[in-house]
Amino acid sequence: TICYRDGRCRVPFCCASPLLHCSLSLPWNPSCLKLRMAEIGIAACLCLMLAMAAGGALGSSPCDDPSVANLPFCNPDLDLVDRVKDLVSRMSVTDMISQLGNTAPAIEHLNIPAYQWWSEALHGVASSPGVSFGGKVPSATSFPQVIGIAATFNSTLFYEMGQAISTEARAMNNVGQAGLTFFTPNINIYRDPRWGRGQETPGEDPYLTSAYVEQYVAGLQFGPDQRYLKTVACCKHFSAYDLENWNGTDRFHFNAIVSDQDFAETYFPAFESCVRVGKVSSIMCSYNAVNGVPSCANNVIQNQIVRNEWDFSGFIVSDCGAINTIMADHHYTNTTEETVQVALRAGTNLNCGGFYQKYAMEAYNKSYITEADLANAVGPLFGQRMALGMFDPTHLQPYLNISTDQINSPAHQALALDAARESIVLLQNDGSLPLSAESSLKVAVIGPNSNATETMQGNYHVSPLTPPPTHTHTHTLLYHSSL
Ligand SMILES: *[C@@H]1O[C@H](CO)[C@@H](O)[C@H](O)[C@H]1NC(C)=O
Ligand SMILES: *[C@@H]1O[C@H](CO)[C@@H](O)[C@H](O)[C@H]1NC(C)=O
Ligand SMILES: *[C@@H]1O[C@H](CO)[C@@H](O)[C@H](O)[C@H]1NC(C)=O
Ligand SMILES: *[C@@H]1O[C@H](CO)[C@@H](O)[C@H](O)[C@H]1NC(C)=O
Ligand SMILES: *[C@@H]1O[C@H](CO)[C@@H](O)[C@H](O)[C@H]1NC(C)=O
Ligand SMILES: *[C@@H]1O[C@H](CO)[C@@H](O)[C@H](O)[C@H]1NC(C)=O
Repeated sequence: TICYRDGRCRVPFCCASPLLHCSLSLPWNPSCLKLRMAEIGIAACLCLMLAMAAGGALGSSPCDDPSVANLPFCNPDLDLVDRVKDLVSRMSVTDMISQLGNTAPAIEHLNIPAYQWWSEALHGVASSPGVSFGGKVPSATSFPQVIGIAATFNSTLFYEMGQAISTEARAMNNVGQAGLTFFTPNINIYRDPRWGRGQETPGEDPYLTSAYVEQYVAGLQFGPDQRYLKTVACCKHFSAYDLENWNGTDRFHFNAIVSDQDFAETYFPAFESCVRVGKVSSIMCSYNAVNGVPSCANNVIQNQIVRNEWDFSGFIVSDCGAINTIMADHHYTNTTEETVQVALRAGTNLNCGGFYQKYAMEAYNKSYITEADLANAVGPLFGQRMALGMFDPTHLQPYLNISTDQINSPAHQALALDAARESIVLLQNDGSLPLSAESSLKVAVIGPNSNATETMQGNYHVSPLTPPPTHTHTHTLLYHSSL
């Protein structure tokens, strides 16, 4: 996929796409550029170079194009709700269905660019379909894994980390190396210590998890510019998910039996804080079922509780493949049409995966879903893209000026180092600490993870620029992998 500086992406045939786009979208990928030159000749090449020169540090807006510039959805002075209504009213059923997967194609007649919804940023912008490293951005700042971040009990740090990451995300988006919608944070309550993904979460405590999510989401979404979202965060995975594969069941088949009291005390508080206080723009529904209903098909939880009681107005995205799971693993439905119907009507707007895109048309033809169901699904998706500024004039958007020198900046590196220091928890000191400064002292780091430097970076990590140390300032470090 070739991505542009404003986060729009095209599959490789973009290189052969008509000249029309060259003033709107500047390919950052040199091989794409070369191909284009070869295929469409000197005129295109000139046009590209001019566009690049004119583009400066800024991205571009699909609404710059005269074919749509005067339509209400392109008018930044109108209310966002009205702009979304206008845009959705111009879409056909086919257009709407095309937008319901994480890899959303362009809608040519409305000049809407393709978009990749799936980017990751758990503790630093991380590789994912919407994020690529290389070229101008070989790496990004890597913060400690979240279980360690939470151990700092430092709300200021949670927020500052979100701000640093969203700044790097914007800088990457401006050069076409990241989207603006991040499937983070993971705020599942870590009830079972054997859960391998527990490290991604702030732990087992609903109170600390709420404190973390309020600040981290605010740091990701809201910056100095009041007008636009800095990025879109996503509280996941809703709900009652903390099992991968145990005792003959896995996350795709697991049915969590949860009492009302346990929901109120354990599983809801962090998500409620995320929505009400963090003002998050998206939520991800989980693979598992809860009390017999697959999460992404749960009308009561998603519509009655989250949307109506908690006033959530963003979008709900399925975990990747979780619409298919409703039918194939939970057997909650028997046909693709029913599956599309229950998931859409339960308020799952977007499918990470291609199930909706593949099967919604047939469901529509057979009257399992209506045009209104599709409009309800698509509206919040474009609402968030607009809130990010994707359909507004570039001169209104200071975030488009954030440059790549903000990535791995000394300030962000210092914050990450401070976070790592604050996250260390001393459980017991028998008097050996602090270590003597004597330079001949050798320190042994023992155990199977002693030098597991990849594992130590945690799930969803970015590759650091520097290799791990073999010496401290004064001491030699010795590693041994077994006791
Ligand atoms: C909390 O984190 C902030 C930001 O990193 C830092 O300045 C502050 O010193 C930390 N507070 C404590 C008590 O460690
Ligand atoms: C594991 O699964 C078996 C069979 O499904 C069940 O009988 C057993 O109670 C389960 N073990 C635990 C600890 O839940
Ligand atoms: C699916 O089909 C089976 C077998 O025909 C039937 O027993 C079951 O009720 C069906 N389930 C649904 C959700 O329609
Ligand atoms: C849906 O109906 C339209 C119009 O009748 C038809 O062209 C299209 O092939 C149908 N698509 C599917 C997937 O059923
Ligand atoms: C972006 O930076 C340029 C050059 O410094 C400045 O003229 C422009 O006003 C900035 N744009 C926004 C939206 O802040
Ligand atoms: C630790 O692992 C790294 C990366 O695999 C390796 O380069 C290094 O030599 C190892 N260090 C020791 C002391 O084993």
